[in-house]
Amino acid sequence: MYQITSRLQPDFEMICGNFKGKDIVSLDQFAVADLDKLFTVTRQMKRIAENNEPSRLLEGLLVGLLFFEPSSRTFSSFAAAVKRLGGQTIEMQNPEAFSSVSKGETFEDTIQVMEAYTNAIVLRHRFSGAAEQAARAANFVPVINAGDGNNEHPTQTLLDMYTLHERFGRLDNLTGLLAGDALNSRTIHSLLRGLSLYENNTMYVLSPRQLQLSRDDFVSLQDRGIRLIEIHREQDIPHDCDFWYWTRVQKERFASAEEYRRAQSEIVVASPALLETYAKKDMILMDPLPRVESVDPAVDADERAVYLRSQIRNGVYTRMALLALVLGRI
Ligand code: NCD
Repeated sequence: MYQITSRLQPDFEMICGNFKGKDIVSLDQFAVADLDKLFTVTRQMKRIAENNEPSRLLEGLLVGLLFFEPSSRTFSSFAAAVKRLGGQTIEMQNPEAFSSVSKGETFEDTIQVMEAYTNAIVLRHRFSGAAEQAARAANFVPVINAGDGNNEHPTQTLLDMYTLHERFGRLDNLTGLLAGDALNSRTIHSLLRGLSLYENNTMYVLSPRQLQLSRDDFVSLQDRGIRLIEIHREQDIPHDCDFWYWTRVQKERFASAEEYRRAQSEIVVASPALLETYAKKDMILMDPLPRVESVDPAVDADERAVYLRSQIRNGVYTRMALLALVLGRI
């Protein structure tokens, strides 16, 4: 069995206006100007995808999709992004069962083999720190983190922030409610990092106590200037949120089924009644999906629920933009 080594000091490179060849491991690599640039390219990509315009932007390039953990949206939207731009993919899902990993190949070897065949590697892994480790192992091609354990999920945050920006025209002065599994949700972790780059954001974090942010995350995020207010009861939900961001309890991160069931029984479900009581008329309800007993399907008909509308589509456009920038074709 291969080993994932975790390091206390992350050593990824800041983007500093130049995406070409960079690994994308954490939201901490981005500055506001980098997000502005990505969003500008995303708008171009949206036009290409919406009009089904043939594009040759990634022609001649191969992207390896290496997914050690199940995925529907992230995997297919990366595949869609590459193919919409005329590139091709090599796809490995569940390599622990279907590749030489099952014979005992090391993680580093798997990464170096993949980089011999491709121009970029998109990696999902159940271990925190796996993306950074892959980035160190890969000497020639960039590695994009498609979710590592309960650590980060930067490309999800890029699409979440683009969705917010498209709706509100800004990423500062926002009040949000982030609900569910704050402890384990890598999408919440990356989103809070991203929103902390902007002025005057206030985020309410609603979770059972055992699923609140780790104290390390809470302190380090507060230190960046984002206002975090932890709440544990439905009655404490404020009425003035611009957006809600719902997440499921991350079953796969629990030690036992019993612990998971206990946590699941304590979460607040997003329902029509909850929206009616606490949500503004012009807010949006987001969810990275999958929802597992966290958002009542009866909410889907509400136009404020964007998870199956703009949010899901923006996943392809932002990933098209990121790939075009990282692969140096824009
Ligand atoms: C998220 C993930 O994998 O972290 N899903 C996704 O990529 N859209 C959220 C989740 O699994 O709950």
